[in-house]
Order: sequence, then C-alpha cells, then structure tokens
Amino acid sequence: MALTPSFDGLMHARRRARVVEALGAEGSRFLALLPNARVFPRNSDVEHPYRTNSDFAWLTGLDECESVAALTGDGPRFELFVRPRNAEREQWDGLRSGLEGAKARFGAHRARSIDDLDEGLVELLGNTDVVAWPMGRDASFDTRVLAALAKVRLKQRLKIDAPTRFVDLSCILHAMRWKKDPGEVALMRRAAAITARGHEAAMAAAVSGRSEFHLEAALAHAFREGGSRRDAYEPIVASGPNASILHYRENDRTLEAGDLVLIDAGCELDFYASDVTRTFPVSERFTEAQAAIYDLVLAAQEAAFAVIRPGATLDDVHFASLNVLGQGLLNLGILHGTLAAVLEQDLHKPFTVHRTSHWLGLDVHDAGIYYRRGEAVRLEEGCVLTVEPGLYFRPDDARVDEKYRGIGVRIEDDLLVTGTGYENLTAAIPKGRRAIETLRAASLHESRSLAR
Ligand code: GLY
Ligand code: MN
Ligand code: MN
Repeated sequence: MALTPSFDGLMHARRRARVVEALGAEGSRFLALLPNARVFPRNSDVEHPYRTNSDFAWLTGLDECESVAALTGDGPRFELFVRPRNAEREQWDGLRSGLEGAKARFGAHRARSIDDLDEGLVELLGNTDVVAWPMGRDASFDTRVLAALAKVRLKQRLKIDAPTRFVDLSCILHAMRWKKDPGEVALMRRAAAITARGHEAAMAAAVSGRSEFHLEAALAHAFREGGSRRDAYEPIVASGPNASILHYRENDRTLEAGDLVLIDAGCELDFYASDVTRTFPVSERFTEAQAAIYDLVLAAQEAAFAVIRPGATLDDVHFASLNVLGQGLLNLGILHGTLAAVLEQDLHKPFTVHRTSHWLGLDVHDAGIYYRRGEAVRLEEGCVLTVEPGLYFRPDDARVDEKYRGIGVRIEDDLLVTGTGYENLTAAIPKGRRAIETLRAASLHESRSLAR
C-alpha cells in the first residue's frame, strides 16, 4: 500500500504550506528534510511489520519505506526520493509508487530515486542558509546529512554557500500535530468506537482457565473486524499480579477466579491511535478490597476530568487525580499522616507510579511538548489527551495489608479538549463498577450455558 488511507492531496499540500511558512520565518533559503521510518529486520530476511513514520504520514500521505521528503523555500518546492518501480522487486514485496507516482499522486514537483539520495542532498544543501530535519532521531540519516554538508562546504570557491543554521524539524511538525483538525478528530472518534468493541469482546471472553492471550485474540478480532489494520501499541492483558507491571507484554498467564484483569489496548485507525484501559473481575463481582481500589481510581479519574478545559494544564489534571488517590489511600489506612505530607513527600508514588496523562494522536504517546521553560503547557481546543490514573500493589509489598497485595487497577480514557471543556471520546466503554459486574454476570452466564 502506498497511500495512507486518509490521504487527501490538498490537505497534505496545506500542511506543507504551513511548514514552509514556519520555516520561511527563519530565512527564505531553507531546506527541510524528512526521512520515513527505517525497516527493522526481525531475523534473516524477515522484517518487523513496517509502519510509516507519523510525521511523514502527516506531511506527505505516502506510506512507503525508503522514502525521503524535501521542502525548499525556492518556489516553494516539494521533492520526494522514493524507490523506483521494479517489476521483479514488486512481485516479491508489493507495488511501489515510483518516481511517476510520487509526482502524479503525491504532488511532488520533482521525484528522484532513493539511490540518488546522497548526491541529491549535496545538491539541495547548496546555496541554502537554513536546513531543518528531525535531528537525533535516525543516526544514519543524521550522518548522511552531515556528510553531504561537509561536501557542500568544500564548494565555497565555486560560489556555493553551505547552510550555517540548523533547525530541528520535529519541533515544527510536532507543534502542528499537537492540535487535531476536524478530520483527525473524526478518525479518532471512529478509532475509539472500534476500540470500544474490542474491550467489550475481550471482557466477554474472560473465563477462568483461559489465557490472557485468548482475550488478546478477542481484541484483535474486534479491531480488525471494525476496520482497524493494526493495534496502536502492543496490547496489555494483565491478570492478577501482572496488573502491577505497567507495560506487561507476555499476555500468557491463565486467568483465575478472583483475579482482576487489566486490559490496556487501543486500535489504530488510518494511523490514528486510541488508548484505553479497563479493569474488571474474572468472577462476577469485585471483592471488597478490589472494589475499594476500583472506586478510588474511578473517583480520581472523574476529579481529573472536572478540571479539563482550555487553559488548564496536565499538571492540574495530574494533581486533581493525585489529591483523590492520596486521600483515598489515607482513608483505607494504606498511607498515614496528612494529605499535604502525602503529596509533598510523594508517599503515594510506590502505588501510583506514573503520571496521569499524555498526548494522543498519530502516535500513542503523541507529538507535543509538556513544559516550556519549566512552565506546563496549557490545554487548547483540539488537543487530545489520555486520563489514566492507576493504583498498583505488588504481590510481595509488605507495606500494605495482605488483602490489597496483587491488586492493580488502571482506568484510561481519551479526551478531546473542546472550546469549553472536553469530550470523552471513549465514554461508551463500560466503566462503572455496577455496569461491569452486570456485564460479567451476563458473560459468565452465557459461557456456562454454552458449556452445558
Ligand atoms: N498504553 C500505554 C499508555 O497507556 O500510555
Ligand atoms: Mn496511555
Ligand atoms: Mn494505555
């Protein structure tokens, strides 16, 4: 596949025009270079599934490995370096856009073979004042640009200037990607709807004696059926004590009655991610201790939601959640002292572990900075964040009452900041404790009837 599914030539051209405008402020003779993601070998001649770099998808809509985009201030002009057509290679590995396709489909003013990148870089860097690329993200690309730069510097006596100013292109692109336009929001809403079906299917598939990976299979089936080509990240299906491992990956433990299952999974739709966590019991009901922790995490999430509006910061969101978690840990006798001491001394940290939010978009941990000169960035209409408080008690944690050990709860939703507050994109995924218990009872009843 050469085209991102939501490819829109005009939209990508408008995005490039915004980048040109931003770089134009640095000087008229500029060059921006953007390499696509590399191919990662898995073993021998087998590769990991390829995913186009999100910046590259956003800017060009071209979904092909071994491609590099170049924007120059001269015109401005958009150039692509791509793999040329090759009947034999295309029979083995799939169709290519080729040089003609790069121009006709993707709007490049000029297309060259990726095999000509090194000499192309020397030519493009000549008589340029400012060069921008995503520095420090792909060491081999950095090396190629710097090698070309060294060659251009030798051309001074041929009246060719070498660039003297360097800009990190990622900063420019990521500032633009941070706020989503209506088309992007529509895709994220659809990704959220598919993710809802996945979570519901996985929850319904939970029966003691089955493996975590059976639930992973239910997620994958619902995601693909819903139209999502791939997951936004490796799904976490963590039962019992595994829920305390934040990025648990094995997904191979057998579910047991009395366990909680924490599922953190989201699909990717047309490159846009969703990122949702739900925690539910394998049995029909939460135990009393599980219910106490669950209700506390849910209350923390609701408190965090309440502060979300333009002008608020992710620190506000985080501390709204932490206030509730800290007070709850005191009320349950897990922590002692005052809330002020708990917060000042981070006494909650062994159990809360991570922060509450990150940006979401083309990447699950999306583009966008969190602080500027030490000041937390303020939310603006159109940005999308997760709100994901959690509490984790390791099975061997002698600091807490035995009844809490091995419990891990995280609840995560995806929120779009609107003009006045927020829209919870993933609100449809069951979350209330009673609603979850009702669903569990229905699923277990059905699995018992099937077994008869
Ligand atoms: N799924 C990774 C995260 O929640 O940040
Ligand atoms: Mn997340
Ligand atoms: Mn998550």
